[in-house]
Amino acid sequence: MNGFAEQHDRAKEVLDPVAYDYFAGGAGDERALADNENSFARLALLPRVLRGGANRDLAVRLPGAPDALPIMVAPTAFHRLAHPEGELATARAAAAAGTVLISSMASTVAIDEVVAAAHQVRAEAPVWFQLYLQPDQQVTAALVERAERAGCSALVVTVDSPVFGRHERDRRNGFHDLPDGYAAENMRGLPGGPAEDTRDIEMSPEISWRHVESLRAMTRLPVLLKGILHPDDAHLAVGLGVDGIIVSNHGGRQLDATPAPIEVLPHITNAVGGAIPLLLDGGVRRGTDVAVALALGATAVGVGRPVVWGLAADGEKGVRDVLERLRDEFDQALALCGGRRCGDLTRDLVVRRGFGGG
Ligand code: FNR
Repeated sequence: MNGFAEQHDRAKEVLDPVAYDYFAGGAGDERALADNENSFARLALLPRVLRGGANRDLAVRLPGAPDALPIMVAPTAFHRLAHPEGELATARAAAAAGTVLISSMASTVAIDEVVAAAHQVRAEAPVWFQLYLQPDQQVTAALVERAERAGCSALVVTVDSPVFGRHERDRRNGFHDLPDGYAAENMRGLPGGPAEDTRDIEMSPEISWRHVESLRAMTRLPVLLKGILHPDDAHLAVGLGVDGIIVSNHGGRQLDATPAPIEVLPHITNAVGGAIPLLLDGGVRRGTDVAVALALGATAVGVGRPVVWGLAADGEKGVRDVLERLRDEFDQALALCGGRRCGDLTRDLVVRRGFGGG
């Protein structure tokens, strides 16, 4: 079991079992889901010693977040299924902990309210908007405008979802839609949709690099692509001038046959050659996992399920506890590796367990 077993167990206790399965589950046989965490357990850190760094500085530079912690809240949908305050609680907690919140397009609170909640806690708290590009570009444009008006400082386009993943647990439970009383609030009042009700989020295999290019023309916000695993796609993304890549397999919820992002990261790091920031999510459960990811080339990492478990277990405080613990653990791991800044974590510090250093 991982670093947030207590929050997970408490969440499992309090959540409706169908909601629990929705949050916990992955696609297919959940191989990718399991491997995301297990891959971190197969890696080890070779610390450097006697480096004399008294004061540590954890800040990193990210697009739309010039002075950020290297730990972010990955976009996850439907927070009101975890806690009545939903994304408002998550936003306040992320702002208080000093982390970037990537707010899901499928949030159960509208993006302007999410950003307002974050900014009430900390005026400059960065909130990024996660976007599924829609086949109707007018709908995409309206969503982008909504995110800009709300005060989001970057867009995260999820590119690993041309179709919806096969979530066996949801199929067994008959969970297809949000229960009555909940809605994907960002999808209200969009072009071509119902005036009062929400429009469905479309996952479309039509979406291509051309749509990413159109998006870049629609906005001045930085654009990051989330869900890249193939080095050639990372290369294409750099060529198109995107502002960052999130190496991710969607927490094992899309293609179950994918490798863990942390296994792929070194190859993407090589392909990108430092041209743009690389982020990673999937299986990050300890500060030492953060350190491993940074050493292998990530500028920051995202955390998905632990945030949901914290939210279900104890609302805003539960999320803050998760984020602050990760930050404190990472700070300690950095110190134990002889580092003063995130950039001091270099590739030579990571080895495979069982194979030692040489
Ligand atoms: C997600 N994820 C996700 N990603 C995205 O781009 N848009 C979304 O709406 C969602 N929704 C979502 C719901 C739930 C319940 C989960 C667990 C995940 C994927 C998410 O951003 C991230 O890639 C993974 O959650 C990271 O893995 P861990 O930290 O959960 O292991």
